[in-house]
Amino acid sequence: MTSRNYGSSSAAVPKKLVVLVSGSGSNLQALLDACREPEYGAAVVAVGADRDGTLGLERAAAAGVPTFVRKVRDYSDREQWDADLTETVASFEPDLVVSAGFLKLCGPRFLSAFPGRYINTHNSLLPAFPGMNGPGEALAAGVKLAGATLFICDSGVDTGPIIAQTAVPVEDDDTVDTLTERIKEAERGQLVTAVGRMVRDGWAVDGRRVRLG
Ligand code: GRF
Repeated sequence: MTSRNYGSSSAAVPKKLVVLVSGSGSNLQALLDACREPEYGAAVVAVGADRDGTLGLERAAAAGVPTFVRKVRDYSDREQWDADLTETVASFEPDLVVSAGFLKLCGPRFLSAFPGRYINTHNSLLPAFPGMNGPGEALAAGVKLAGATLFICDSGVDTGPIIAQTAVPVEDDDTVDTLTERIKEAERGQLVTAVGRMVRDGWAVDGRRVRLG
């Protein structure tokens, strides 16, 4: 596959992030906090969700960031939802779209609107344990290292090219909750670091391999 380069060197203007959330939004909060520093090089220009009433949307509102909600059930089919979500996100002209606990798979229209620029953070060391229950499956499998993966979304479930990974130990007395929290702490740090590098230094995708800077 041909190598493609993303990002530009104009560091003076903060790069625009649109963040998609479904839940508590702690990853979103980490990005909002990082974006307060001008040196970080990015601004969250909008937060989108697939449901109302989440802490993630509250965090965005508290930070003064515009929000929008696009629920699948409000559309005649998934294609219409995908088209409207695409149009809405595109209206903010994002440099990077970040799925941070967004519990929906975006469709072909969305993926082709933001090629190489739609990224997702997942709470397992992919390709192990894709899907909704990464920490639980890691615990059940008895692995000694768990973690989080940041990747570029493709049409599969947690299958895209990997940008960054971070590992945490699995302790003997872990429950799904304790392991999930340990992963999330590492995940937030990784997200902030990797997104910062992407917006400041750009990135290149060569087949399955992603290079920052
Ligand atoms: C993250 O651990 C992500 O990997 C998973 O859902 C969690 C979202 O957490 N898909 P939050 O909403 O950012 O707190």
